[in-house]
Amino acid sequence: MCGIVGIVGKSEVASRLVEGLRRLEYRGYDSAGLATLVDGAITRRRSEGKLSRLTDLLVSQPLPGVTGIGHTRWATHGAPTTTNAHPHATAHVAVVHNGIIENFRELKDDLVARGHIFESETDSEVVAHLVSDGLEQGLTPQAAVSAALKLMRGAFALAILFAGHDGLLIGARRGSPLAVGFGEGEMYLGSDAMALSSWTRQVLYLEEGDWVVLSHAGATVFDANDREVTRAVRTVALSPAMIEKGNYRHYMQKEIFEQPQVIGDALATYLDPATRRPRLPEGGPDWAAVPRLTIVACGTSSYAALVAKYWFEQIARLPVEVDIASEFRYREAPMPKGGVALFISQSGETADTLAALRYAKDENQFIVALVNVPESSMAREADLVLPILAGPEIGVASTKAFTCQLTVLMCLVLAVARSRGTIDAAEEARLCAALSEVPARALEVLNHDEKIRAIALWLAEARDVLYLGRGAIFPIALEGALKLKEISYIHAEGYAAGELKHGPIALIDEAVPVIVLAPHGPLFEKTVSNMQEVLARGGRVVLLSDTAGIETEGRNAAEIIELPMVDAFVTPVLYAIPVQLLAYHTAVAKGTDVDQPRNLAKSVTVE
Ligand code: F6R
Repeated sequence: MCGIVGIVGKSEVASRLVEGLRRLEYRGYDSAGLATLVDGAITRRRSEGKLSRLTDLLVSQPLPGVTGIGHTRWATHGAPTTTNAHPHATAHVAVVHNGIIENFRELKDDLVARGHIFESETDSEVVAHLVSDGLEQGLTPQAAVSAALKLMRGAFALAILFAGHDGLLIGARRGSPLAVGFGEGEMYLGSDAMALSSWTRQVLYLEEGDWVVLSHAGATVFDANDREVTRAVRTVALSPAMIEKGNYRHYMQKEIFEQPQVIGDALATYLDPATRRPRLPEGGPDWAAVPRLTIVACGTSSYAALVAKYWFEQIARLPVEVDIASEFRYREAPMPKGGVALFISQSGETADTLAALRYAKDENQFIVALVNVPESSMAREADLVLPILAGPEIGVASTKAFTCQLTVLMCLVLAVARSRGTIDAAEEARLCAALSEVPARALEVLNHDEKIRAIALWLAEARDVLYLGRGAIFPIALEGALKLKEISYIHAEGYAAGELKHGPIALIDEAVPVIVLAPHGPLFEKTVSNMQEVLARGGRVVLLSDTAGIETEGRNAAEIIELPMVDAFVTPVLYAIPVQLLAYHTAVAKGTDVDQPRNLAKSVTVE
């Protein structure tokens, strides 16, 4: 986590560094800071709290300088104070860091023993002292960075500024992403291309172990063995307009309302326009011969994986194992010969998921990455990449990325089922027709926004909320609970409806709203029985169902949200939208910071 940015500029850089940091705030917002060279000397401005605190500080204490670095922090080592805020500096260098230096204690002990004085509790400060140490011994900036990199263990992206060297920045990447941008006589560094999008679309992504020397003349890239290497410069498709809030109050709201559009974009790519059948990128495995699919992800992406398990098993008759990455990576799971491992991640950078991918690679699995960021580490390391095409997701709580993950997974399931001969052409056509309707049906769901807002006013009063669902809708109950707790800070849990009587039913009373997700279909009666158990104990239910479901059971619920009648196959996507809106409006009613909820960051690049 943390966002870093750097500019070798022709004019003053402080305000542009702040602009870059604003685009990276989704990566952390515990503190922020800048460093530039003023008359050759390192000069810093740092502030705890959000970026707005730093901008206030810059008004009273402006920061000149044409070469500089900036940082927005998600705290790992040390509290989110100004002293622990980046950049960390000595008289010779200033450093911004994203990641963790695992051996910082031993490096620090050694540096302290040799007279270095540290001011913060962070692991990052050790980088500034290590590089300084090299400079004090007479090394050039390049040689000092190269020597320091060889001593550090862990995952990091770094940008380093050198006193007395206007027009020079050095960046390094190991485990955490770093993009290099090319301007007109200017050069940029950023944790992602979004940070650089106001200044350039010409971007080079450093590869694992690379480090880069930036000057007005351009960039020289070295690999982990200090050999000069060439990396492709690409034109990225991002424009500043894509990453603005527009007329919406929050990014999360904008991203919820973008869903009909982006789901449609994904379908336009993954459904053949002539046949309306799924088409996948070339180079996939022979699905008919695959003995088992392992799907690994974290958080919301892991709930997409859980939904996909129901689909793959029922429709493609393919055995599926799903695990969360932080457990999978350490449990030394045996993996079958000829197996496929699928990694789902919006960012494509989540540290645990990336480590799990590498484990599966070592186990000779065919690696598929389902990601939103096509240049991400997971995309680069996979055998097959399935981009979800959601566009930039900036709200920390994932919304459109989740429904786009589900959309692409539905296309994948149908393509796999065809390869395995588990569905005939008529069934495939029926399911594809249901899939093609999803954007229009999603728009209908969004029309319930006002009704959902009214229900949210009630939820905002609750201390605990339960979500119930069955089958492929059960993971949507988990997702609904996660969304509510992460942005409204209300305690919420999702349960498989049939599991309620095995313990959680003890929580039911009139103060605990129970959100029942029950599309009319094969499992409807079962879910309704569980809803009756809740009602019998004084519980108050919000029922999300379709016309048929509401007709039979709506009268028993305290509140109803009527969703479109659709094929059971596509219900997980459509039922995800009202639970997003419920969480969103509850958070707004409570007055929490919707786009930047406390303690969270979007791209979790630490374990
Ligand atoms: C919740 C949320 C997180 C992420 C998780 C994985 O709203 O956004 O739970 O889903 O951190 O992130 P990615 O998908 O980038 O690997």
